[in-house]
Amino acid sequence: MLRVQVLNLGKFNQMSEAAVKGMVLFKGKARCILCHNGPNFTDNRFYNLGVPQVGPQKKDLGRYKVTHLEKDKRAFKTPTLRSITETTPYMHDGAFKTLEEVIDFLDNGGGDDANKHSLMKPLALTKAEKGELLAFLHALKGEEIPFEFPSLPE
Ligand code: HEC
Repeated sequence: MLRVQVLNLGKFNQMSEAAVKGMVLFKGKARCILCHNGPNFTDNRFYNLGVPQVGPQKKDLGRYKVTHLEKDKRAFKTPTLRSITETTPYMHDGAFKTLEEVIDFLDNGGGDDANKHSLMKPLALTKAEKGELLAFLHALKGEEIPFEFPSLPE
């Protein structure tokens, strides 16, 4: 029988075994894909995750300031996860310094907020699963983008 390869799935063995397991968690048990989906790992929507408000605007109402809808109080836009290892601190106000802290926060079902989105639920991830999820987030780093700082006027 003649077999024709119709799909080009890219190169094999580009991700570690842990990262592949992390990807399966991302799409399944850890529920990340519910919001971080599409080519840039964002649905471009806004959610209240109960992120602790630590920035200069401690009572930042987020999306509500634009829509004036109750459900949008303290909701922020789902950010991309591409090259996420390179852009600490995390969340709109930099509440978390490391991806481990972000994963622990999400594992707890987010923070305390009466207006928290109903998609946020405790995940009951094991220590090993958290490590695999982290390995997957590391795998989202692309090639370095060369950037020349412009010279600023004096
Ligand atoms: C209900 C939607 C939703 C789900 C589910 C979700 N996220 Fe997010 N995620 C967001 C939003 C919204 C933010 C931004 C919150 C903010 O800025 O306060 C965010 C922020 C992040 C950040 C910080 C990004 C940055 O640039 O600061 C990381 C990392 C992240 N999410 C990873 C994950 C992982 C891993 C999972 C699965 C365990 C997950 N998210 C599940 C909506 C979601």
